Amino acid sequence: MAEIEILPDSGTLAERASGILIETAASAIAARGRCTIALSGGSTPEAMYRLLAVPQRASQVNWSRTLLFVGDERVVPTGDPRSNFGLVQRTLLDGISVPSANLFPVPIHADAAESARAYEEILRQAFEGAAIPEFDLILLGLGDDGHTASLFPGMPTLHVTDRWLVATPPGVLPPPVDRVTFTFPVINAARRVVFLVGGEKKADTVRDVLAGGYSVDERPSVGVRPEHGELIWLLDRGASSKLPAR
Ligand code: 6PG
Repeated sequence: MAEIEILPDSGTLAERASGILIETAASAIAARGRCTIALSGGSTPEAMYRLLAVPQRASQVNWSRTLLFVGDERVVPTGDPRSNFGLVQRTLLDGISVPSANLFPVPIHADAAESARAYEEILRQAFEGAAIPEFDLILLGLGDDGHTASLFPGMPTLHVTDRWLVATPPGVLPPPVDRVTFTFPVINAARRVVFLVGGEKKADTVRDVLAGGYSVDERPSVGVRPEHGELIWLLDRGASSKLPAR
């Protein structure tokens, strides 16, 4: 069952998300000595990354034991403004001190499929011997068309079960560059998955995904169903405005 939290605005949404990351890092490191996090791209998490870089918050995370990945990436160089890892670099990493060995950007190759293979290999080394990686936290966004990570409506990538990472052409939303994305088996093996969704323009899609009745091909985010982990939807008032009254 998904847990749904409705926050008054984008600021409190970012605060709550950063609080979840801080709490997840502390409990994972206490339990297993490290915390593995897959961050997301898009515009919504930016405020959260900036908050986490503020010394008072940054000091609450043991970054030397926290490993940072991205759940999907646009196949462009990290310095390109469209890069998801580049966003994380500018808004979070430039303001804090994380050992470079703890940073796992997607290797960029001319061929997106090659980038996907290379990132899968990096994950296999980071999660040595695992049949499937169990991330402590995967952060996700929700696209207007119901996509999450770079799992787009109607694509064969939605049904891949034998790969951790796949390449995909862009969906209908900008920017029009090839992507590399976690597959559903990786997302659904996580210990905690958090959707971060803000703004009234997402309200119809949030309702479609949470109310049910849509297939994964129609609204890919319905495929996010952690097998043993927790699923949390953090919504602001706008994004939650079309949900049935609770
Ligand atoms: C990306 C994403 C994508 C994003 C959603 C929501 O690379 O674009 O990872 O899945 O999270 O499109 O994006 P916004 O937060 O910008 O609405």
